[in-house]
Amino acid sequence: MVSARLRIIGWMLGVLALALTTVVFLTWQVLAARSDSAADAELTHEATKFRAFAGSTTAAGYNRPEELLDRWLQSNLPDSSEGFFTVVDGRAYHRSQGSPPARLDTDAGFVARVAGATEPEYGWIGSTAGKVRYGVIPVRVGSQPVRAQLVVLEFRDVIAQPLEDAAQALAVIGAITLALAAGACWLVTGRVLAPIRQLRSTAEQIGESDLRRRIEVVGNDDVAQLAGTFNTMLDRLEVAFLAQREFVDNAGHELRTPITVIRGHLELMGDDPRDREETRALVLDELARMNRMVDDLLVLAKSERPDFLKLEEVNLTELTVEVIAKARGLADRAWGVDETADATIVADGQRLTQALMQLVANAVRHTTAGDRIAVGSRVVAGGRAVLWVADAGAGVAEGDRERIFERFARGNDQGRTDGAGLGLAIVRSIARAHGGEVRLARQDGPGARFELELPMADEEVRG
Ligand SMILES: Nc1ncnc2c1ncn2[C@@H]1O[C@H](COP(=O)(O)OP(=O)(O)OP(=O)(O)O)[C@@H](O)[C@H]1O
Ligand SMILES: [Mg+2]
Repeated sequence: MVSARLRIIGWMLGVLALALTTVVFLTWQVLAARSDSAADAELTHEATKFRAFAGSTTAAGYNRPEELLDRWLQSNLPDSSEGFFTVVDGRAYHRSQGSPPARLDTDAGFVARVAGATEPEYGWIGSTAGKVRYGVIPVRVGSQPVRAQLVVLEFRDVIAQPLEDAAQALAVIGAITLALAAGACWLVTGRVLAPIRQLRSTAEQIGESDLRRRIEVVGNDDVAQLAGTFNTMLDRLEVAFLAQREFVDNAGHELRTPITVIRGHLELMGDDPRDREETRALVLDELARMNRMVDDLLVLAKSERPDFLKLEEVNLTELTVEVIAKARGLADRAWGVDETADATIVADGQRLTQALMQLVANAVRHTTAGDRIAVGSRVVAGGRAVLWVADAGAGVAEGDRERIFERFARGNDQGRTDGAGLGLAIVRSIARAHGGEVRLARQDGPGARFELELPMADEEVRG
């Protein structure tokens, strides 16, 4: 979680820093270009001023260039970022009042260079006060040859100073913004990720034994929805887990009864051969019952697995006839076939027979000799097939109609403890595995009619 937080902050700061650096750099570039052109403009301005002065009537009275230059120097004060000096006969002569940022009139090389100028010259030169934009204006009086120059210096770095200060301030403000953004990001990501952290720790704490814990859902954002989804999943898990536990409890309980009976009889068994024979028969009977129950439990457990069904083409007429043939051997009843569907469905024929035989066994158990029990099959609307087992017995009590399909649920009818209550649960599992359902049909007359409704096409059947 910490690493997710750091990653988010890292990305955010990276992007911000890049943006800020770009802004500062570009500003810097623009300001530098501005300073250069500002120095240039100042230089041109001074040169223009000087030319205007040299062409004026005042200047016409001077015979010697140094007089003209001195006069100009006296009447023109340089800015703090400027300096003027004059060169006469190859040597620095006078300089403007005030102290310039750096002296170039003392630079012999520079003076020698400008002293040679007979035409106006412009250029850049370095100094102790940074870059300098200079201009040399040769001065001629009358028709005399050139022997004096006015040198105008514009200290570009001094001009740029306030702009550089501004750029530096910008950089400092940028750095502070970055730091503040990092702090804000840390807080915000902490708040955003807190529910996820809680989600994780809750998930870690939820063990098999404590599925009741839930994550607190605050607000309606993505994280809240995630927590909600997580809780719904836990609801389902809890229900499934409780059902599983109840199933195991019930199974244990049901198996304990025959064991207790067997044990009791074995303990009390005497030496009398008749007594022994009776006990043996009873023990075998109980063991058979246990065996059946274990088989049923295995079928139920297996029905949850994907390989539960072995699909094939099943002819409904053949299936119906096969079931009634098997049923006849079970008991003395008035067996009959209501009708048969001339259709083929994709299903597991053996499982369907198993389901129908469970229904037949129930029907037998709830009828007496000579009562009618009928099976049948029919194709109904929606591409579905219905198979049924109907009897003329006592029927199912209204309050038991739904309950009897649950595992270990028995009706309160005759208070018999014969079956375990797994038969209808198995029928339902088989029906559902086929994408169908089993139900107790509503009917006017007495008796019970259980119907299996199944899809006929194989897409709906779980293979
Ligand atoms: N044809 C029927 N007529 C009346 N009641 C029925 C009929 N079939 C089932 N029932 C009721 O539904 C209950 C549940 O049936 P189910 O087949 O699940 O269990 P069981 O027959 O009691 O036991 P098992 O099938 O495990 O031997 C029965 O106990 C009975 O009360
Ligand atoms: Mg049964």
